[in-house]
Amino acid sequence: MSTNKKHTHFDGNDMALADVLNRVQQISTENEQLVRKLADGEYRFRHLARAVWRVQEEERRNIALELHDGIGQVLTALINHLQHSAGDVTEPVDQQSVELATSALSEVRRMSRALRPSVLDDLGLESALKWLARTTGEASGLEVDMQWPDDEIDVDKQTETLVFRIAQEALTNIVKHAEATRARIIVGHDHGRIRVSITDNGCGFDAEDVLTASDRGFGARGMRDRAELFGGRLHIESGTGEGTSVILELPEGTA
Ligand SMILES: Nc1ncnc2c1ncn2[C@@H]1O[C@H](COP(=O)(O)OP(=O)(O)OP(=O)(O)O)[C@@H](O)[C@H]1O
Ligand SMILES: [Mg+2]
Repeated sequence: MSTNKKHTHFDGNDMALADVLNRVQQISTENEQLVRKLADGEYRFRHLARAVWRVQEEERRNIALELHDGIGQVLTALINHLQHSAGDVTEPVDQQSVELATSALSEVRRMSRALRPSVLDDLGLESALKWLARTTGEASGLEVDMQWPDDEIDVDKQTETLVFRIAQEALTNIVKHAEATRARIIVGHDHGRIRVSITDNGCGFDAEDVLTASDRGFGARGMRDRAELFGGRLHIESGTGEGTSVILELPEGTA
């Protein structure tokens, strides 16, 4: 009798266990579906975010061209007109108008280059980074140099733009915040990965603090998010009084 009772008790446990196992199986199937949905959502989000970024860069290029070839040409013609249509004894050159038109022209060219320098599309990343180093130095008094590897480096157009934009933001930050005297851009590649560092000898800062605070660090976080969007990684090494290095790593050739 007692064996029978025990048996019934065991059956009950078995059923409970089967129930639990069933439920676990069900939950893990649901989990798998959720993870798949999440991965699918993230894939679509990345796709969309990259497309938005491409369109934004395309628009910048169009506006830069419009400024340079549209208003820029009109101002050049105006300067020519002011200098040559007058100039005889009866009608001397209006020097002030020439100066105003010339400074408007250089402002239009500056805006056009800031939007998207044509050197990036025409001559590629190496020339664009050299140009960025030179013009940043000229405008700020900072000593900026650039190192590029001797051998071929495989970068597509999108990667070129990404690296250029990150170097541009890092250098802008150095000029704005670092109180540095020197900055250096180093581009290298190894084992199929591109490595770009932008280093300064300035005051340094608490990068962790800036990257995690919700109300500041949009420039720094923008650099990091953009790098991650293209399968890369960005980290900032800095400390008070120790200067700063912004380091970007990306897969070579694909973005
Ligand atoms: N190279 C640097 N040297 C010293 N401090 C820096 C450097 N780069 C960034 N910082 C510090 O990190 C903060 C955040 O930089 P971030 O680029 O995110 O924002 P921002 O330059 O202040 O504004 P934004 O880039 O949105 O115009 C800066 O305000 C500054 O305090
Ligand atoms: Mg900034």
